[in-house]
Amino acid sequence: MTAQEKPPGTGVDILIVEDSAVQALLLKRTLTQQGYTVTVARDGAEGLAMIRERKPTLVISDIEMPHMDGYAMCREIKRDETLRDIPVILLTSLTDPEDIVRGLHAGADNYLTKPYDEEYLLTRVAYVLTNKKPRQSDNVGAGLELHFAGKSHIIDSDRQQILDLLISTFENAVQQNRALLKTQLELKALNAALQQANAAALAASRAKSDFLARMSHELRTPLNAIIGYSEMLQEEAEDLGQADFIPDLQKIYMAGKHLLALINDILDLSKIEAGKMDLYLETFDIATMIRDVAATIRPLVEKNANTLQILCPVEVGAMRADLTKVRQSLFNLLSNACKFTQQGTVGLTVTRGPVDGVAWATFRVSDTGIGMTPAQMARLFQAFSQAEASTASQYGGTGLGLAITRRFCQMMGGDVSVESELGQGSTFTIRLPMEVTAANATTRLAV
Ligand SMILES: Nc1ncnc2c1ncn2[C@@H]1O[C@H](COP(=O)(O)OP(=O)(O)OP(=O)(O)O)[C@@H](O)[C@H]1O
Ligand SMILES: [Mg+2]
Repeated sequence: MTAQEKPPGTGVDILIVEDSAVQALLLKRTLTQQGYTVTVARDGAEGLAMIRERKPTLVISDIEMPHMDGYAMCREIKRDETLRDIPVILLTSLTDPEDIVRGLHAGADNYLTKPYDEEYLLTRVAYVLTNKKPRQSDNVGAGLELHFAGKSHIIDSDRQQILDLLISTFENAVQQNRALLKTQLELKALNAALQQANAAALAASRAKSDFLARMSHELRTPLNAIIGYSEMLQEEAEDLGQADFIPDLQKIYMAGKHLLALINDILDLSKIEAGKMDLYLETFDIATMIRDVAATIRPLVEKNANTLQILCPVEVGAMRADLTKVRQSLFNLLSNACKFTQQGTVGLTVTRGPVDGVAWATFRVSDTGIGMTPAQMARLFQAFSQAEASTASQYGGTGLGLAITRRFCQMMGGDVSVESELGQGSTFTIRLPMEVTAANATTRLAV
């Protein structure tokens, strides 16, 4: 190797004082790649001892360290005539403006802000090495008064040190400003891309919901015809005495009804997601509504030989909400309770009470059925989600009831929650404001 090919740092002995082993290793690697000879000390006290022994060309030191911090170590170096000329670069995160004054007091030669750019670090090291000047032994700048951050400081360092340190601080600030501007530009570009992606996702979601809503609507007309005609044919078969056809016609009728319920659910969900579901607010008597719901659910209660217990005192009075949606939400919870309970009890309790000065209605639907595990409960309220893959074949359903119920309740400013224990039963609770208004509803109101 010729003299010219030698790496720039050859023959230069640098001491790193750093308590973080990882930081020290990274810094050491960067510097040794340039040919510098690098030694590491883990705190100020160890650093000072090594400086006294080795007299390195340059010291790069962290500030916050155990035993002796970077400032104290620097002060000791600058106080010692035999060490004074060794330049000290302090590593700082430059979050506290007082750091500048502390560095001046300690007699540091240069500041380098963390996190540093490798190239910038090397330029700074090279600069300090080439501009290395002997420190004057007497404090030429003694008594220099500095007003900074609302305080006055007397700086005892020499002029060259003050100048070097202040310029290095300014350079750091410029460098950081540049990095900040670059990040700002990158952030702007990212933000624009994100906005575009978000708009595209929203448009796609709306298109999907729109398509589903249209499709569901188109399917309902012919389906209603199938249901209607199969019903008519049943009656005609009875009139004509052709009883053989009746079971098959009944199957067509039942399958049609099932499909219609499913399509209605999908239509509801896609309308909610497309923001096209309106609330029709009216004032209704809660006890009357509960009586209607109980009458509708009766066949499902009896199907699995369950008992229905209703507790709805007349004092709960009237509420203002979307009657159809409250009724459907309760029906969904009750139909689940009946479906997942055999020869047990299904309960419906209604209460009212104030929360933070606002009157709320609480509808509690409990059962003594199969219950759920915490993992199963965590998946509830999502569309097409059932406790297990086998649920549909064993109990029927598609996993839309709870998703719709939650969205209906949230639209009215309330919510639905669940408590359950496997094998013991479940309790679903709907909470709604007694008076749903435009202020607590999360959707537009139909007028
Ligand atoms: N009372 C309950 N007891 C036990 N499990 C329940 C109960 N209610 C709901 N679940 C579980 O939550 C799942 C989702 O209920 P959800 O009402 O949304 O759908 P579904 O009843 O399966 O079908 P759909 O209501 O669309 O006909 C059910 O499949 C079941 O696994
Ligand atoms: Mg259901």
